[in-house]
Amino acid sequence: MSDFEGLSTCTRCDLSLTRQRVVIGSGPLSARLMIVGEAPGRTEDEGGAPFIGQSGRLFFTLLSEEVGLTRDECYVTNVVKCRPPANRTPTPKEIDTCRPWLIEQLDTVTPRFIVTLGNTAGRAIFNYPAGIGRVHGHVFRSGALRGLPTYHPAAALRGGPRVVEVMREDLRVLRRLLESE
Ligand code: URA
Repeated sequence: MSDFEGLSTCTRCDLSLTRQRVVIGSGPLSARLMIVGEAPGRTEDEGGAPFIGQSGRLFFTLLSEEVGLTRDECYVTNVVKCRPPANRTPTPKEIDTCRPWLIEQLDTVTPRFIVTLGNTAGRAIFNYPAGIGRVHGHVFRSGALRGLPTYHPAAALRGGPRVVEVMREDLRVLRRLLESE
């Protein structure tokens, strides 16, 4: 776990008033793959690490089965580092206020591949206008960096086997990308 200077005590937005912990990120700063979600949930707010609850367990099971990578081989973070009350979607202002921290993480880790989970993370990073149903599994390129949006695992927990299967297909696209490098 790395401590980006000042992030663990950040008060740039009002989410600092209701959070328990700033959830910075986890994994090696040398990771080739960065996983970016929306914002911490209750389990992450209490535990201080991203995707340690039910949806994280689902995603990392799929990643391991389809790509052969473990959580410890990826750098994992969220576009917003503090839990929004009642797990509401972060506002555009909160996302913009938190964006410099995400940029600092991207500049530090310099991943070759990014997987975004859900529309909030996908739009914050790739800036696409369509919904996740249209863009999931498509590869975005920016210089040497390649990005792949897929569904949020919480949507798969709600949506059942059909969404899980789509996420598996998206992750197989990622596996082929990793193998082609
Ligand atoms: N959902 C997210 O988007 N991020 C987490 O860290 C946990 C749940």
